Amino acid sequence: MSETPETTPPEITPEAVEAAVAAALAAFAEAADTAALKTARTTHSGEGSPLSRLNASLRQVAPERKAEFGKLVGMARGEVNKALAAREEELAALELAARLEAERVDVTALASHARIGARHPLTLLQEEISDVFVGMGWEVAEGPELEHEWFNFDALNFDVDHPARQMQDTFFVDPIDRHLVMRTHTSPVQVRSMLERELPVYVVCPGRVYRTDEFDATHLPVFSQVEGLVIDKGITMAHLKGTLDHFARVLFGPEAKTRLRTNYFPFTEPSAELDLWHPTFTGGARWIEWGGCGMVNPNVLRAAGIDPEVYSGFAFGMGIERTLMFRSDVQDMRDMAEGDIRFSEQFGMVV
Ligand code: DAH
Repeated sequence: MSETPETTPPEITPEAVEAAVAAALAAFAEAADTAALKTARTTHSGEGSPLSRLNASLRQVAPERKAEFGKLVGMARGEVNKALAAREEELAALELAARLEAERVDVTALASHARIGARHPLTLLQEEISDVFVGMGWEVAEGPELEHEWFNFDALNFDVDHPARQMQDTFFVDPIDRHLVMRTHTSPVQVRSMLERELPVYVVCPGRVYRTDEFDATHLPVFSQVEGLVIDKGITMAHLKGTLDHFARVLFGPEAKTRLRTNYFPFTEPSAELDLWHPTFTGGARWIEWGGCGMVNPNVLRAAGIDPEVYSGFAFGMGIERTLMFRSDVQDMRDMAEGDIRFSEQFGMVV
């Protein structure tokens, strides 16, 4: 059996041991990162390293010198292992510091990933409408969405058995004997405004209303309306018509105008259906049904404690979703309810 030089155990001498230790310490000090240190460790303290081989040579040492050489090699190995552990610790600390520096987070920096939002077009249109009237000196009035039946119907001159009160249109709220409903229109704010304010009254009332309607392209069970109400001395239908024409022109351009067709509402007398001439309608200028209006019914004035012999007034109301549909060419009303920011973004970032 022939022996290769590597397997021939080296002779143990203090110089050989010292040289192995010196080489190991130099290699550890030179290793610049943990990966390099790992390689140095294999070379200088691993199985085939000079020190291991010197250690293996102990077997051949004469018994009387075993203790002396054993101590020499053992101490050398101890020194190398200590140096290795120290360098390992040092490099780990350096690498951690470098990583912390590299991954440093500036908590005061602006978060660039935050998406800029968009205001909902219904909110924008509602504000734009209010502005038209505020610009004429009117006030914005509000009322509760959970409304008493008296404000929603009785005070507005609805008969007890008016079909709109029936279950198919109105969300009645339990317990029924409390007579609370989700308001079906913004008209109850007329009555509240007359009761709460000093005369004369000039108010615009935008807000959310509820009906047991389907959820489809042209109906939402929750939608918005805007109501207008004027109570003053000497108010006539000419004031109503002039106000509506002005409103139409601000929203739809200088060519826009309105037309009234007779109709019936319990709270106005006479009552009219309000049509809008939409000069820039997609597909050509045309008349569009816009809402309802009329002269405030004397019964409504009386319910609010106002003398119809002294005061008169006009009122109008229309749907805001519908208005947005034909003003901005929105085909499906459900897009307004779904809250997808891509829909809102198309209307621009108006503040
Ligand atoms: N409240 C009515 C509705 O929801 C709309 C309306 C009609 C309002 C005539 C008015 C009005 O102020 O005078 O259908």
